Amino acid sequence: MLGKVALAICAIIFTVFAIAATVVLSLISLYIPNQSVASISAYQTCLTVASKFATTISGPVANITATTGVTVTCSQLTSSSCPGSLVNGICTWQRKLAVTCINGSTVRIRVQSNALPGRCASVPPTTFLKEQNIDFEVNFNPTVNVNSQTHSPTTQSALDDIVCSITNQQYAPSGSNLTSYSSVASLGTVAGMSIDNVPILNVNSAVDVDPFYPPAGYAVETVDTCLAHPQTNGVYHYHMASGCAVSPPTGNLSSCTTTPACSSDIAGYALSTFPSSAKKLTVIGIAKDGHVIYEPYLASGNIVTSGIDICNGMFYDSIGNYAYFATTKYPYVTGCFGPGNYPSFGPSCTTNGQSSYTMSVHAAAQANG
Ligand SMILES: *[C@@H]1O[C@H](CO)[C@@H](O)[C@H](O)[C@H]1NC(C)=O
Ligand SMILES: *[C@@H]1O[C@H](CO)[C@@H](O)[C@H](O)[C@H]1NC(C)=O
Ligand SMILES: *[C@@H]1O[C@H](CO)[C@@H](O)[C@H](O)[C@H]1NC(C)=O
Ligand SMILES: *[C@@H]1O[C@H](CO)[C@@H](O)[C@H](O)[C@H]1NC(C)=O
Repeated sequence: MLGKVALAICAIIFTVFAIAATVVLSLISLYIPNQSVASISAYQTCLTVASKFATTISGPVANITATTGVTVTCSQLTSSSCPGSLVNGICTWQRKLAVTCINGSTVRIRVQSNALPGRCASVPPTTFLKEQNIDFEVNFNPTVNVNSQTHSPTTQSALDDIVCSITNQQYAPSGSNLTSYSSVASLGTVAGMSIDNVPILNVNSAVDVDPFYPPAGYAVETVDTCLAHPQTNGVYHYHMASGCAVSPPTGNLSSCTTTPACSSDIAGYALSTFPSSAKKLTVIGIAKDGHVIYEPYLASGNIVTSGIDICNGMFYDSIGNYAYFATTKYPYVTGCFGPGNYPSFGPSCTTNGQSSYTMSVHAAAQANG
């Protein structure tokens, strides 16, 4: 009897110690990552972001198109749409991408890309894919402040002049110190590069409206089920982010038009293409102003529907990092190089825009601090 009581007491004491130890260990493990985050250098952060890109060679290289890339085959592109060689009905090309972090007192990132995908594409008749030479270098994640905005329109027409303009991302703010090594012609409408080597173009169509939810009287543009399509000069590109960047599909792609889930609600479809396992802060690209582009999810797992400015940028953490987030509302990825302001009206070149903008808690803290 006494032995059993002693045993029970021992068990209780042991359990209490075990719980206490677990609590202490969890507190330590919560504490350590915070410590290391604070001490991670900009160069290390850049290397981490660069490692998410599907690079094919380490850079910088003299000329990305002259390098050996990764061979891609696709039997759905034809002699007129194939960006490489077509043999026995199989189109073969090379995907080439180098993303390099350059250390120094200011960390820079260089993106060199031939802008060809690592997967098939479904393209409208008369359009084609063509190898490009995209090459730019920019300050990585430059420091920006909510109190010093690149754009702060106070009327809807002033907002339209900024975000409803396909050429508004030709140049980045001076704080980004953007250097374009390739010709402006192939870079002017490029807003950034996706991790899968598909350029992200400015959100607008050539007639300066939302390509997918345009105002009445404008045509809806055709894309494939990876939500990409080629421009008239052969630049295959995104306007809206797709999970294909994170996990490229194999085999033929369909067009969005013939895929009911896509054609009926392309923004909702875009969201559904991101793997549910990746509902966390996930890099999907880099903007030409040096800011990171993330999936539609925050570190908390919450989907981003607010806290973004007119450019689709957000101050998303307590140390002032600013990035663009994929969203289901225009401008979907990035509409201008921010930070922008938070007006109580939206742009008129879309039927799927924000009607007002609100600061994130971190932006609000910075604005008041
Ligand atoms: C880069 O290489 C490609 C393919 O070898 C060549 O056609 C092009 O002229 C080169 N560009 C420059 C700027 O050297
Ligand atoms: C892909 O499309 C091509 C051209 O339409 C067709 O010949 C081929 O059989 C398709 N492949 C598959 C796996 O469906
Ligand atoms: C990167 O540059 C900084 C500042 O010049 C320097 O302190 C740091 O040691 C460098 N890091 C590496 C890994 O070279
Ligand atoms: C911009 O970047 C270039 C290339 O690295 C550098 O030479 C130049 O000093 C930088 N300019 C500024 C203002 O930082």
